[in-house]
Amino acid sequence: MSWQATVLTLFPEMFPGPLGLSLAGRALNEGTWSCTPHDLRPHGLGRHRAVDDTPFGGGAGMVIRADVVDAALSAVQAPADVPRVFMTPRGRPLRQRDVSRYAEGPGVVLLCGRFEGVDERVLQARNIEQVSIGDYVLSGGETAALVLLDACVRLLPGVMGSDESGVEESFSDGLLEYPHYTRPAVWDGHDVPEVLLSGNHGAIAAWRQKQAEEITRERRPDLWSAWLARREENEATAA
Ligand code: ADE
Repeated sequence: MSWQATVLTLFPEMFPGPLGLSLAGRALNEGTWSCTPHDLRPHGLGRHRAVDDTPFGGGAGMVIRADVVDAALSAVQAPADVPRVFMTPRGRPLRQRDVSRYAEGPGVVLLCGRFEGVDERVLQARNIEQVSIGDYVLSGGETAALVLLDACVRLLPGVMGSDESGVEESFSDGLLEYPHYTRPAVWDGHDVPEVLLSGNHGAIAAWRQKQAEEITRERRPDLWSAWLARREENEATAA
């Protein structure tokens, strides 16, 4: 059974978009996953198939109607165990562990909003998770959905070239990854860190670990604090 992505959107032409190329594209062609966009528009009301309306309580922008979202959800008939996810800057931040959870399951149904948002009642009543890909506002949920799908698809069995590249990267152990270097050994007067040319695997591993820790401490104090706390906890249980 392939991993199934269903995307509810007003812009079905945006899918699979860039995910039709490169690693994800090959996996798509091989049937490792499927990407089925589903147009919200036909579920709209009236001659103009309106999917949105003005917000109760007033204010700017338009809100996608609960009945329209519900009709689209019914039409796609995803099994009950498939997570339903609304892409929104108001959502819980997407983490690698969430990506792993989605990738390990049967697939996802992603709801993409334009306008101000979606009627909260359908999100609550139909158990739709709300997920953000970062603290910035996109013009719609479609590009966020592409990001989420990219992150999931690369974890599907057989998609990545070597399994090791999945293990040693940023976030798998809570640290940002160490920096990388390749030939030439001197470029534009800049040397490669000497230890990397030493052939001493123990020293290289220690250098990389130290770099990962320093970069995380400097760039992501939030991840660094969490990592320190976890290390302390591990030391306490080991003692
Ligand atoms: N839609 C608009 N901005 C978004 C964001 N940051 N994450 C997810 N969906 C969005």
